Amino acid sequence: MRNETRPINVRLSDDNLAVIILDQTALPASTTFIELEGEQDMFEAIVMLKVRGAPAIGIFAAFCYAVLANGTHTDNNKVFAEEAKRFKAHLESARPTAVNLAWALNRMEAVVLANGDTPVAAIKEALITEAIKIQQEDMRMCESIARHGLPLLNDGDGVLTHCNAGPLATSIYGTALGPVILARQSGMAVRVFADETRPLLQGARITSYELTREGVDVTLICDNMVSAVMKNGWINACFVGCDRIAANGDAANKIGTSGVAILAKHYKIPFYVLGPSNTIDPDCETGDGITIELRDPNEIKQMFFTKPVAPDSVNCYNPAFDVTDHTLISGIVTEYGILRPPYSESIAALKDYITKKIYQTRRISS
Ligand code: MRU
Repeated sequence: MRNETRPINVRLSDDNLAVIILDQTALPASTTFIELEGEQDMFEAIVMLKVRGAPAIGIFAAFCYAVLANGTHTDNNKVFAEEAKRFKAHLESARPTAVNLAWALNRMEAVVLANGDTPVAAIKEALITEAIKIQQEDMRMCESIARHGLPLLNDGDGVLTHCNAGPLATSIYGTALGPVILARQSGMAVRVFADETRPLLQGARITSYELTREGVDVTLICDNMVSAVMKNGWINACFVGCDRIAANGDAANKIGTSGVAILAKHYKIPFYVLGPSNTIDPDCETGDGITIELRDPNEIKQMFFTKPVAPDSVNCYNPAFDVTDHTLISGIVTEYGILRPPYSESIAALKDYITKKIYQTRRISS
């Protein structure tokens, strides 16, 4: 899809002692790479959104787990497993909504648990391999999502997106932005309207940066302009990412997404959620079971402004995500294809298919 085939946002240092990330809080003013060696710095990088976007957080956490495991000083399997359990819990507590964080850390922990008798040095090697595998799988999943999403677009379409679900939020291609980037590379004219995404401006800072670099025609709008551009007839489809999808299809994504979906229904515009299958949380029956992260009020009151824009004492409510009701979603685009309503059936069928596939792969390789 693109010439550059290595992710730039998250990677291991050459000596495997640090995780190097592109600091997303510095964009678009500067492209700054930072090297993280310690557990607290890694934790804070997630909390402060230096690394952000559900799949990217999962990949980053997997690399952090491998680096922290590598830095432990014990040959005793039990002590090693206990230490890993402790830093896993700490990293996992950094952000509650994106299921990919816990998913990736559970996968890393499974390597430790399955190798109770293996020398610790060999487990450390296996953890590095597993983290790289998680990232490579994400690259393949994102490419596949882009290919499944492409037929939803027609030449000349206008697409509305919210927040940032592009390459920097994943491994390389993005989810919601994947079909758009692919369309552009195929010579199609697609115009994207990017919501700025208050309060942390992921749309303004990151989506418009990424799409401009990809040569996509992108127009930045404030969040309260969505209805206007829809009414103008400029939007043919909405493409958004997701942080956690419940078994009934309710989908958590950046705060403001559900409002876009409600407006899309009013204007009869299809609304698509795009994400890898590991974003589906079968333990969450409906969106009511999804924990929504609450963030610092200062993100609303003063961040990004040279002067405070609200009285210091005012109460603020700052949820980072909301849940779009499954009835508003036209399709969920995964690496396996597009899921359609009723989602309780299509999601269950997909999960069943994946479980059987994993079981079969294990049988063949054992
Ligand atoms: O708070 P953020 O910036 O991590 O929120 C990100 C989003 O809501 C994205 O849309 C979602 O993680 C999907 S990224 C492919």
